[in-house]
Amino acid sequence: MTESFPVRRPSGCPFDPAPEYAGYRRSEAPAKVSTPAGVDAYVISRYDDVRTLLRDSRLSSRLAPSDHVVPDADLDREVESGSILQVDGAAHKRLRRMLATEFAVKRMEALRPRVAAMVDERIDALLAAGGPVDLVQEFALPIPSLVICELLGVPYADRDEFQERSAQLVRVDGWTEDLQRASDDLNQYIVGLVLAKQAQPEDDILSRLITRGAELGTPLTLEELVTLGISLLIAGHETTANMIALSTLALLRNPAQLDLIRTDPAKVPGAVEELLRYLSVVHFGLFRYVTDELTIGSSTIDRGDYLIAALSSANRDESVFGDPDRLDLERDAAAHVAFGFGPHQCIGQQLARLELQEVFTRLFARIPTLRLAVPFEEIGYRENTLVYGVTALPVTWDAPI
Ligand code: HEM
Repeated sequence: MTESFPVRRPSGCPFDPAPEYAGYRRSEAPAKVSTPAGVDAYVISRYDDVRTLLRDSRLSSRLAPSDHVVPDADLDREVESGSILQVDGAAHKRLRRMLATEFAVKRMEALRPRVAAMVDERIDALLAAGGPVDLVQEFALPIPSLVICELLGVPYADRDEFQERSAQLVRVDGWTEDLQRASDDLNQYIVGLVLAKQAQPEDDILSRLITRGAELGTPLTLEELVTLGISLLIAGHETTANMIALSTLALLRNPAQLDLIRTDPAKVPGAVEELLRYLSVVHFGLFRYVTDELTIGSSTIDRGDYLIAALSSANRDESVFGDPDRLDLERDAAAHVAFGFGPHQCIGQQLARLELQEVFTRLFARIPTLRLAVPFEEIGYRENTLVYGVTALPVTWDAPI
């Protein structure tokens, strides 16, 4: 039988994935579902299968429309060149290699003091404004956006406008004219930015991509550079912002767990891995097209079929993570697949970790009485967007005496 996808979360527990996944993991054959865009797909729900398949070269990202969960999506839309998430094989390797050194651990670690300063500046602003505030608008959305401005080399004078547009782009539930306008404006802005860097390279990713491409004899085209810039913005902004806000809510709901990191900041890096596992914000999973017949257990999947690698289910697989539905900040969760797996595994993961670590080291230390400003039951969730999170997070705290 073909079920509807996405399957829904249990009412009352916004952190748990749909209960159907546990049944899917136990079932011999993968469940067949139909997405809102009208595509039938097999759900890969077990941890081992998800990892095995995401590295299988018979799966294509290029032929898998990213909007499969958006009703009425234009699934035949052409993939823009430079869209790293939606290319396969050699074309993907070329883009990935260009970006890899930019996101290497060492380069990211060098950014840590800047990220820490940005987090502190936003906390200063919260404290100056006083509660209650919406933590999504005032904290979670600006931080990753500021970090991406830094990476792309967006001039300081343009950062407020850049942030406003990119926040618009990642906030909405579905495609609207406003969103189209924000997207066109941002695109236009990045075109100008790339042209400026081409004329006068500086110390940032776009400039280095321009120079490196020329040195390697395979220069990136203007379209590729613009699409890469936008891809970094979208992939790095929405995911990290939602992780910041949703993790804060999960920690406030689990005060004993929160105390663990409050009293021992050395536990923050491990806690971040557990939050990534537990919350799995890329909650619908990863969509792929099958280019050649393959088998999963005793089931055969034909060429031309689609798969959904259900990251949120794999991260709750009881054969890998004991008592998987419990948030346990002291467990070893490092093997989670919240960043995906295989050739497209998140290239920004070290940066995301660093941002989350700096946030959770500082936020609760500097605002120890941080709490929800509304009853938990009134919090709204982004159920229909590709990245899960809260729609707003009203918080408050005691003013210093
Ligand atoms: C908590 C935050 C983040 C999460 C949960 C996350 C999750 C993911 C996942 C699941 C993928 C795999 C997509 C696929 O296989 O189709 C991915 C890819 C990617 N991510 Fe992230 N991401 C995060 C932060 C970031 C940041 C901060 C950046 C950069 C600024 C970034 C840039 C990218 C890019 C460029 C790709 C595509 C890589 C490729 O196709 O080779 N991400 N991310």
